[in-house]
Amino acid sequence: MANVASVTPEPRARVRAMMEYHPPLGCRDTLRLDFNENTLACSPKVGEVLGRISTGALTRYPERGPVEAMVAAQLGLKPEQVALTNGVDEAIHVLFETFLEEGDELLLPVPTYTMYEVYVSATDARAVPVLAADDLQFPYERLLAAITPRTKIIAIANPNSPSGSVATREQLLEITRRAPHAVVLVDEAYFHFHGETMMDLVGKIPNLIVSRTFSKAYGLAGLRVGLLAGPVELMQWTRRVLSPYSVNSVALACLPAALEDSTYLDWYVGEVLAARADFESVLDEAGVRRWPSQANFILTEIGAQHKEFTRLMSAAGVLVRDRSNDPGCDGRVRITIGTREQMRKAAIALKETMATLRAGKEAL
Ligand SMILES: Cc1ncc(COP(=O)(O)O)c(C=O)c1O
Repeated sequence: MANVASVTPEPRARVRAMMEYHPPLGCRDTLRLDFNENTLACSPKVGEVLGRISTGALTRYPERGPVEAMVAAQLGLKPEQVALTNGVDEAIHVLFETFLEEGDELLLPVPTYTMYEVYVSATDARAVPVLAADDLQFPYERLLAAITPRTKIIAIANPNSPSGSVATREQLLEITRRAPHAVVLVDEAYFHFHGETMMDLVGKIPNLIVSRTFSKAYGLAGLRVGLLAGPVELMQWTRRVLSPYSVNSVALACLPAALEDSTYLDWYVGEVLAARADFESVLDEAGVRRWPSQANFILTEIGAQHKEFTRLMSAAGVLVRDRSNDPGCDGRVRITIGTREQMRKAAIALKETMATLRAGKEAL
C-alpha cells in the first residue's frame, strides 16, 4: 500500500499532447453572430413536439432506427447508408476512430473547422494541412499533390468555415478518384445556404462519405444531431464505433417535425441569403475587405485591430468571431449572417465600430 496516494493514472501520450479547444461560450444572451448558428429559432413545429414529450418517455433508451430510416428516405438513401450522430462533431470523431491508424495521414485543407484537428490529435495518425492561398479558395491542386499512399481520410468542409469558399462537384469527384484508398469526407454542414451537394452520389462512389448537421439552418444546435451518409461497406464499421444511444430521445422526437417543416427551413434560408447580400454591401461601403461566401457567415479582414474590433462589437451587443489564430487568418474576423432585421442592427454596430477604430488611428 506504500505511496498509493502519490500515483496518478496517466492518460495516453497522444491525449497528453492533444490540442485543446475551448469555444468562447458564455454570456451569449445577445445577437450571436459568432458560432454560425441559426440566430433566431427552430421550426415552431419542434416547439409543439417538445411540449408533448412525457416524463415517462424519458425513462426509455432512445431508439434511433425509425428516425434514421425517415432521414434516409428524405435523402433518397437506404437506412443502412445513414447514421445519426450527436452532432457532426461526433460523426467526425467516430469516423477518425474507425479509420485512422498509426502512420496514416489526414489531409486537411486549411483554414477549416477546428474539430478535425482536435479529433485527429487523439489518434495515432497525423494531420497534413494543405494551406489555401490568400484568396482562401479551395486549394485543389495543392490537395491533389499532397495525396500519398498513407492518406487515409481527406476531410473537406463544403462550404468551408471560416472562409465560406467551396469546392466544385468535379473537384470533389476527382479527389475521390485520385485517392481510392482514402475516405473522402465531404462535410456539408452549411449545405442549405449553398444548395450544391454530393449526397446523390452516396453509395455510388465507394470512398465518399457525406456529413450534414441539424445545428445550422434547422436551428437545433442545442439538441446535437448530425449524420453520416456513405456506402454500407464503410458505414458498417463506423456503426461499430458509434454509441447506440448517442442521439438522445428528445432529439429523436423532434427531428421528424423539423424535417417535415420545409416551409420554415426555406423561409429561414431565404432570409439569411437576402441578409447576406445586404451585409456584403454594408461591408463594401465601410471599406472592409471580405471573402465571397456560400454559407451563413462572411470572413472579413479587420487587420491589426481585430481584438479591439471584436471587443467593441461585443460591447455594442453583437458577438463576432476573431479567427486570427486560424492558419493564414491573422486579422480576420468571421461574422455569422442572421435575419435581415438582425443584420441591420449588426450593420449599425459595424459602422460605429469602424468609425471608432479609424478615429483612434487618426488620433495617434
Ligand atoms: C464545417 C463544420 N462541420 C461541423 C460543425 C459542427 O456541427 P455540429 O453542431 O453538428 O457538431 C461545424 C460547426 O460549426 C462546422 O462549421
